[in-house]
Amino acid sequence: MIKKCLFPVGGYGTRFLPATKAMAKEMLPIVNKPLVQYGVEEALEAGLDNIGFVTGRGKRAIADHFDISFELESQIAGTSKEKYLTSIRDVMDNAIFSFTRQNEMKGLGHAILTGETLIGNEPFGVVLADDLCVPEPGEDNVLAQMVKIYKQFRCSVVAVMEVPEDQIHKYGVIKGEEMKEGLYRIEDMVEKPKNEEAPSNLAIIGRYILTPDIFDILRDTPPGINNEVQITDALLKQAKDGCVLAYKLKGTRFDCGSVGGFVEATNYVFENVYKEP
Ligand code: G1P
Repeated sequence: MIKKCLFPVGGYGTRFLPATKAMAKEMLPIVNKPLVQYGVEEALEAGLDNIGFVTGRGKRAIADHFDISFELESQIAGTSKEKYLTSIRDVMDNAIFSFTRQNEMKGLGHAILTGETLIGNEPFGVVLADDLCVPEPGEDNVLAQMVKIYKQFRCSVVAVMEVPEDQIHKYGVIKGEEMKEGLYRIEDMVEKPKNEEAPSNLAIIGRYILTPDIFDILRDTPPGINNEVQITDALLKQAKDGCVLAYKLKGTRFDCGSVGGFVEATNYVFENVYKEP
């Protein structure tokens, strides 16, 4: 079964400068929780409790966040403030964390390949914490939805959603044959196409289930657009040699890598998800 989940968190977060000058963008809070904690909670709920981070320079706060803060915790132990630590303690009690560092930013494909040492030879999830996904009330979260698809088909699965034409150039875009409602067998995929060259309006969102043969493919994948090793290019090879599925996610997704999406997510979570401890 799938137990491991990789979080590529090496990126710079330039769109949030100067906030991200000395601080990891994944630590920016949506209301009271850093973005990355939402992603880790999603992985845990989906049954993936072995969490691997591919970090980079300036990202130590992420490792500290998922560790005990002895001074703080002993100070508030037994006081009314202890309740504010409940959610992070739950995460820490239920997950195992490991870290490796990507010392050059050469693309998402390169980050995932760097994580091989934490994954080994088993299928695994990938979560891009910038994409915050909120499920419908009472429904499985997006990663859990994808684990179910994986269990049935045993091949790599990417999450997709329809995006407006003027946004498509920001994403990996798929073309596929619809096998059943909302599930596509990928025939083509392009990273950040020009609007007129996009094979559809189905954009890849930052949730993946990958089979471990992706590592060998990534090793042989030359840099693509923006001179970065693209996971999209490696997945196209995997799709052509075998099978890769695209799953239209159910729920609401926010692009927290953009300022507008981040503010929207903050408002939505405050209104609909956040509960005061
Ligand atoms: C990455 C992937 C892209 C995907 C996107 C989802 O791009 O390369 O295929 O559509 O994440 O958020 P990035 O946003 O890192 O440029």
